[in-house]
Amino acid sequence: MTSTPTELESQLKGLQSAAQSAIATATSLDDLETLRIKYLGKKGELSLVLKGMGKLDVAQRPIIGALANQVKEAVQGDLERSRTTLEQAQIQAQLAAETLDVTMPGVYRPQGRIHPLTSTIERALEVFTGLGYTVAQGPEMESDYYNFEALNTPADHPARDMQDTFYLPDGNLLRTHTSSVQIRYMENNEPPIRVAAPGRVYRRDTVDATHSAVFHQIEILAVDRGLTFTDLRGTIKVFLEAMFGDIEIRFRPSFFPFTEPSAEVDVRWRDRWLEVLGCGMVDPNVLKNVGYDPEIYTGFAAGFGVERFAMVLHQIDDIRRLYNSDLRFLKQF
Ligand code: DAH
Repeated sequence: MTSTPTELESQLKGLQSAAQSAIATATSLDDLETLRIKYLGKKGELSLVLKGMGKLDVAQRPIIGALANQVKEAVQGDLERSRTTLEQAQIQAQLAAETLDVTMPGVYRPQGRIHPLTSTIERALEVFTGLGYTVAQGPEMESDYYNFEALNTPADHPARDMQDTFYLPDGNLLRTHTSSVQIRYMENNEPPIRVAAPGRVYRRDTVDATHSAVFHQIEILAVDRGLTFTDLRGTIKVFLEAMFGDIEIRFRPSFFPFTEPSAEVDVRWRDRWLEVLGCGMVDPNVLKNVGYDPEIYTGFAAGFGVERFAMVLHQIDDIRRLYNSDLRFLKQF
């Protein structure tokens, strides 16, 4: 290594300009670190040049020393500035990569709706639970006893013709109405009782716009001391007004084996009378069948078809729409 001042001086200047142009083209922080080690590191080029200083005149040393410092500071300054620039660029790149475009359209997820039968059941049960009723359920496969016999409908009773029944090979049947739950509930509970029982029922009906072999009913039953037809009437009125709004209703005498007297109820809907449910005072025979004393207790009961309510409330013209899961239909609710 030479040691004349001019040569050292030109080596230092060469080093500076090489370092600076290398720093200027560095594209990463790692590159910069490599350059720092290369030029300013312990065993770097600047140290190497400075080793030559030992051979200089004492008078020359401070001059070259000062120049070396200037070079070092200039290179250091460039390294600093370049580091800041690259760091900023890195942050900007990261920000750009992680930017969320809130104006982009979202991913469409089809939204489910509550089926009109479900919402009708929920609405009705809400009214009855509001009146203090308990919700109960019973099996869809029933014995003749619960579906007919205990409901005061013996085998030879003509009322059995009203409900064409699906009989099962084992002698059981698919319940034709939710009235069977009345018996099961009374067998297991003592009066006073107030119960609402929703569920599926089955009949050998030919399917058309207003009939289905499988449909839904809600049964209500109240038994207590001193219940009268007035209580039944009041309850039905409150219920129907909650479902249909402020409407005119009428009770028509009717017949059911398990109630005496029995009635059917119509609502005045869009200028005509529409039959919506059957009801009556629980027949004393039914109370006897479950071990209640009809001299002490009286009760009232009612049963209605959920499909009928849903069709009226939502202006559905064909019962089959409620079962064929057509999204174009279901989306409307
Ligand atoms: N079970 C009857 C039917 O399916 C409806 C009914 C009428 C239920 C009168 C009752 C009632 O509880 O009291 O047609």
